[in-house]
Amino acid sequence: MHEKSIALLNKGLADEMWAVHQYLYFHFHCDDQGYDLLAELFKNTAMAEMRHVEEFAERILFLGGKVKMKASHEVADIHDVRGMLEKAMEMELAAVKDYNKYANQCSTNADAASKKIFEELVGDEEGHADAFGTQLEHLDKFGEQFMALQSMERSRSLAGGA
Ligand SMILES: [Fe+2]
Ligand SMILES: [Fe+2]
Repeated sequence: MHEKSIALLNKGLADEMWAVHQYLYFHFHCDDQGYDLLAELFKNTAMAEMRHVEEFAERILFLGGKVKMKASHEVADIHDVRGMLEKAMEMELAAVKDYNKYANQCSTNADAASKKIFEELVGDEEGHADAFGTQLEHLDKFGEQFMALQSMERSRSLAGGA
């Protein structure tokens, strides 16, 4: 009887799995290039998305459904900082749009608890979009200096550890 909600929750879960993979991939590449602040942001966001996977999975199991542990997309091989931030922004805005829609569909199906999960996640994804947007603005405004600051953070922590 909750088939519709279970399908929506599994769709959300697949997108969250993708976000975990994509942001961890961005984390590795930022770290590799010495951009520590962005590496940290991607890692923290990946962990937040992992908690979203968990929330969806718990709700699916509660409703008696099966958790489909599959990412909705392959990881995009993007290695430049602007490309990474733009991709992340695009993913967050799509999640906001989808989860708003799914919340309404859960409401139509008289499933208030699933609706609430989608609504709460909309707030989280808006926060992520805001954080990535701020980084993009800094990149536009400060350009090379922004990248230099990223690298300086590593120099500072290396010096601190010496
Ligand atoms: Fe998420
Ligand atoms: Fe997000």
